[in-house]
Amino acid sequence: MIPQSFIQDLLARVDIVDVIERHLTLKKSGANYFARCPFHGEKSASFSVSPSKQFYHCFGCGAHGSAIGFLMEYSGLSYVEAIKELARDAGMQVPDDGRGARRADEGHERLIEIVTAAAKFYCEALARSPQAAAYLQRRGLSREVVERFSIGYAPERHALQQIFPNDYRDKLLATAGMVIDNDAGERYDRFRNRIMFPIHDRRGRVIAFGGRVLDAGEPKYLNSPETPLFEKGRELYGFFLAQKAIREAGFAIVVEGYMDVVALAQFGIENAVAALGTATTPHHINTLLRQTDRVVFCFDGDEAGRRAAWRALENALEALRDDVTLAFLFLPPEHDPDTFVREKGADAFRDAAAHATPLAEFLLDHLRQNCDLASAEGRARLVHEAKPLVTRIPDAAVILRLQLVKAVAATSRLAQNEVEQAYGLKPAPRVSFPTSGNVPGGGARRPAMRRPPPSTVATLLRLVLQHPALAARLPVNLIPSDTAEGRALAAIVDLAGLGEAIGSAAALIERFRDTPHFEALDRLAAGQGEAEAEFDPAAVERLFEDGLRKLQADAIANEIAELMEQARTGTLSAAGQNHLNELLREKSTLAALIRASDS
Ligand code: CTP
Ligand code: MN
Repeated sequence: MIPQSFIQDLLARVDIVDVIERHLTLKKSGANYFARCPFHGEKSASFSVSPSKQFYHCFGCGAHGSAIGFLMEYSGLSYVEAIKELARDAGMQVPDDGRGARRADEGHERLIEIVTAAAKFYCEALARSPQAAAYLQRRGLSREVVERFSIGYAPERHALQQIFPNDYRDKLLATAGMVIDNDAGERYDRFRNRIMFPIHDRRGRVIAFGGRVLDAGEPKYLNSPETPLFEKGRELYGFFLAQKAIREAGFAIVVEGYMDVVALAQFGIENAVAALGTATTPHHINTLLRQTDRVVFCFDGDEAGRRAAWRALENALEALRDDVTLAFLFLPPEHDPDTFVREKGADAFRDAAAHATPLAEFLLDHLRQNCDLASAEGRARLVHEAKPLVTRIPDAAVILRLQLVKAVAATSRLAQNEVEQAYGLKPAPRVSFPTSGNVPGGGARRPAMRRPPPSTVATLLRLVLQHPALAARLPVNLIPSDTAEGRALAAIVDLAGLGEAIGSAAALIERFRDTPHFEALDRLAAGQGEAEAEFDPAAVERLFEDGLRKLQADAIANEIAELMEQARTGTLSAAGQNHLNELLREKSTLAALIRASDS
């Protein structure tokens, strides 16, 4: 655990604008900075960075957080890694608090060192092996692309002993997935006589390998096992190298194999990645959708390729949004991307990618092919088989879901609402758009969509987030604890009462990470637009005073109600009666003040 006081010092020292500027081009506008959001593909700049709050927020996709949160999202760092990176840039030393954490962390670093050393060794071994070099040449790989992907060669059975002469028996070598211990207690290299493809994490560090046999042999590809560094469902082969090209090309290509990624890159198509011997997961897709709004899945043209495409579709459904496009490119049966690009060239591949089949079309075609639409039973089957697919689509893609429902209905000769009923979907609301002008008595009225005004507590919490110094002026006993916001506000006031210095909004929110209050604070910080008035100190003071008075009025009203109840049951003492009179006077004074400021 890194002590909270250190995190607070750190956030007081770093400026989120500097941190983000290292990764994005920011433009100043008013009090804030803006950029194109890196977390969803967009043409306009809805990503804002607030120097006063030390917070970023995207009005388009809702991404938001502190400098720590940005590094976690953008660079794929863990919480601790993000803090360490910020500390390094700020020239601060992260204190050690508890040996366990440090040891775990050292273990992690050590694993990276082991895998990195092995990658270097494999590259050197490739240079020494005419046989391996000949293989790569036969596969048509250029020297540049071999270097770009740091492709290497794992030679014989105990090759890694050359770089780990004294610690070849170290447990961490097995943890890193580099060696295998057999039942007889012998240890040997996992990868032998294979072409080695290092797998990088999002920051470009080697974390695992895929190894291909030279020509015949089983298994054709051998991958590192899951290790503390390598979780297959999260990593994509080639992602680190492809990131920039994905943003530039405006789309990402997902292929099946290592060789496909490498061959495409050799032909100038650098925006391709591969899932690692597993089906593409929703996590993979979300990773890509943070860089771009279009993903093209490209599968081999054979039957296995079609099956893989269908699995990818099933896994993609829950990541769908109406502002993204997922499409499927089916190559001719005899090809995979590697052979296709070598035979037909990059332009032919780009052209095919541009004309890939949209997800909805693939889904419907696939179902239609599997059902006999001439019979009522066949059509019922289609409705049945589409159900788990359509209902997996989240509300973020409500329009696409509606289109699919309509298509299923048309194909099965049912009405749209019948399909919706069968799927347990709420019928889509009838949306009527206001016509130009206000036609009295005619046209559809737009339904009143006004939101309820924010509660007093929510307003106060919002003000305190923007101006943490205000917390010290709130009496904690006045804050009602019946809502998450009230409890969060009380917790902040308590903190201020302990004399803890509170910096920016972001520092305040980070202070409550891993507490029950985090969600309410985070939600509020994300939801708040930049109400201009709140940069005006006089307006802030007025809002705050009002809120305070309303809390006092509520507290008084509660007390009055209690005393009135005593009066009703005849248990009110003389002192109580006096107190009640006093409260009633206070109440009317406060009411007048509140009325005055409301008007
Ligand atoms: N794969 C695997 N284990 C295997 C076979 C395949 O993990 N035994 C994964 C690898 O990631 C491989 C991908 O599936 O890259 C595609 O396999 P395949 O189409 O058989 O290989 P190609 O990529 O075409 O490889 P090559 O061109 O070298 O034959
Ligand atoms: Mn191939």
